[in-house]
Amino acid sequence: MTNKTVLITGASGGFGKTFTKVFLQAGYHVIATIRQENKIQEVLSGLSEQDRTNLTLLFLDVSHDQSVAQFQTALNAFQRIDVLINNAGFAVAGFAEELTVEEYKLQFETNFFGVIRVTNAVLPFMRKQGSGRIINISSISGLVGFPALSPYVSSKYALEGYSESLRLEVKDFGIDVVLLEPGSFQTNIWTSGTHLSQNAGSDISPYKSMFTTINNRMLAERSSYGDPSEVGFLALKIAEAKGNPSLRYTVGKGVTFMLTLKRLIPWKTWERMVLKQLQKP
Ligand SMILES: NC(=O)c1ccc[n+]([C@@H]2O[C@H](COP(=O)([O-])OP(=O)(O)OC[C@H]3O[C@@H](n4cnc5c(N)ncnc54)[C@H](OP(=O)(O)O)[C@@H]3O)[C@@H](O)[C@H]2O)c1
Repeated sequence: MTNKTVLITGASGGFGKTFTKVFLQAGYHVIATIRQENKIQEVLSGLSEQDRTNLTLLFLDVSHDQSVAQFQTALNAFQRIDVLINNAGFAVAGFAEELTVEEYKLQFETNFFGVIRVTNAVLPFMRKQGSGRIINISSISGLVGFPALSPYVSSKYALEGYSESLRLEVKDFGIDVVLLEPGSFQTNIWTSGTHLSQNAGSDISPYKSMFTTINNRMLAERSSYGDPSEVGFLALKIAEAKGNPSLRYTVGKGVTFMLTLKRLIPWKTWERMVLKQLQKP
């Protein structure tokens, strides 16, 4: 048993639900946040009676100032927050030319500004207690640009820059900021968690053929995506790591190879390889 508390955003499914389970089983008190009442059963399912007694469920939509303000008031009931996992996120997909600025803003309100809202609500706790660990769930998309995903990729690149700066600002308060960067895993993000731009894949779109190739590829590869529990256990390992944790932790099939290749070969070679893949039917 530990007397530590972890706060997890976006706990209704996917990684968030997995983090909740893994940290409860490790003896943490878990504050899990969801944004819809009808998801309560989803979070509770599969948890033992003992686990449930260590769980607090709070409502939070990270994209809304008012929701975060209410949540911040509810947080005052807690003495300390040892670990924050900024997990809530979704994907806006489509081709840049066919996306509106509003769609980019929609993406950033959750994946980027949402992280800032929640982090600013939690930092006073961590500064006061003189310790804390913030794990920001980024992505391989925060390190590599993919076509048809520019809003998502941009939001994760922004999260990477924000986290690097924040890490340097809060180190002296005993707070560690860490980026966890998964590849592709079997959660809901690539189905119900995706907002697709209106024209994507339509007959009038000049990007129809690229859309079809990417879509077919995703459908063919989805069953080989990783098991979210791998990311869950890595988050626990980061939370428990003694001393000074690394800034970045990558996880997922082929991720290390892809990042090494991107780092070592000239951009023009990389670009040729990616575009060749996109020409396949
Ligand atoms: N799965 C992957 O392959 C992968 C890879 C790299 C990074 N990631 C990242 O992992 C994180 C979790 O995603 P996931 O893959 O677990 O997807 P998921 O299964 O779709 O879960 C996303 C979670 O975020 C919540 N959420 C979305 N918008 C929110 C908002 N505005 N306020 C509060 N909660 C919100 C969802 O709540 P609702 O149920 O209410 O929609 C859900 O609980 C995301 O940051 C994602 O970018 C995923």
